[in-house]
Amino acid sequence: MTVITNIEDLRVLAQKRVPKMFYDYADSGAWTESTYRANESEFQKIKLRQRVAVNMENRSTRTTMIGHEVAMPVAIAPTGLTGMQHADGEILGARAAEKFGIPFTLSTMSICSLEDIAANTRAPFWFQLYVMRDRDFIERLIDRAKAARCSALVLTLDLQILGQRHKDLKNGLTAPPKPTLKNLLNLMTKPRWCMGMLGTQRRTFGNIVGHAKGVGDMSSLSSWTAEQFDPQLNWGDVEWIKRRWGGKLILKGILDVEDARLAAQSGADALVVSNHGGRQLDGALSSIEMLPAIADEVGSRIEVWMDGGIRSGQDVLKAWALGARGTMIGRSFLYGLGAMGEEGVTRCLQIIHRELDLTMAFCGHTQLRGVDRNILIPGTYPSGEQARAAAAQRPAAALPLGQAQAG
Ligand code: GLV
Repeated sequence: MTVITNIEDLRVLAQKRVPKMFYDYADSGAWTESTYRANESEFQKIKLRQRVAVNMENRSTRTTMIGHEVAMPVAIAPTGLTGMQHADGEILGARAAEKFGIPFTLSTMSICSLEDIAANTRAPFWFQLYVMRDRDFIERLIDRAKAARCSALVLTLDLQILGQRHKDLKNGLTAPPKPTLKNLLNLMTKPRWCMGMLGTQRRTFGNIVGHAKGVGDMSSLSSWTAEQFDPQLNWGDVEWIKRRWGGKLILKGILDVEDARLAAQSGADALVVSNHGGRQLDGALSSIEMLPAIADEVGSRIEVWMDGGIRSGQDVLKAWALGARGTMIGRSFLYGLGAMGEEGVTRCLQIIHRELDLTMAFCGHTQLRGVDRNILIPGTYPSGEQARAAAAQRPAAALPLGQAQAG
């Protein structure tokens, strides 16, 4: 077997081992996938400034994210259907994150449930919430997250309707896969995955099935989302959820300076500059292009993080230099998991950590504090001008707060 030295190696192995339907679900974007690709390619345009003859001894990538000590400014992003990339995937991911000393976020649309993660880990984890029409169910989910000792709630704001992902439609994505001839033929080429799945009971949406009223077959993510997710979600609901949760709140899916101001005004602890990995509005700017304007605008009032396109520790350092005080990894994590389970996630974190540490040193720093745009070559990184100009086009929406649907 080839020696795994970078995230691309993990991706290639995951593609071999994970059934096509689930690999494609992870490794795809909406429509033409232009935003999905831009998330990665815009990082590559940013060039680093090499410094020499600087004492590189005693380096550390440690920092904090919303007050939590982290081994590096990276958290595992919430990803749907993770337990379909590998049997018990969310438990394995949470364990690897715990051992490494970074946060793990469980998605509402996970296969393993909140209770499964709590029973199989010791460190507190984070829970990501989608707002659904059934507010009683949301209240119960929040209570379950508290009972599971979650130490932050990640509220996703950019997926009340699902972006059109052609691969998922063509593959007929369901969890578990339906036993069609095409699926069975594909599964025959994935014996490891099949063995894993035979050894677990966790094969459908663990947070939902048996908990939400009137839910029978919710195997299809797209029909479940269309029926249950609340398209009326607004800033009043954010206020209601913040009150109901009462703990640390992270708002995910901010891609506009004006929305970032509203996020800061909401009193949340952090916001994540994100286009949902290019899975929602294709044609939106990449996350790294949006980051500097948002960090400049609200970074002193709320912790600004980003996700989208991070495939190396160099990307983490570039995001940090442009104002992100944290990052989230989705696909890099899923590639590791699909490739080698818990060991693959650990490998992914080791790879990112090593690249971050080495790049920081080559740029003349021994710790993250002090790393800023000075490590980047002017003219190669986004100035934030386009993002600021977009926000100047229209005045702030009238009275965005106080229109809660519930609470
Ligand atoms: C979220 O669940 C997604 O599919 O992007």
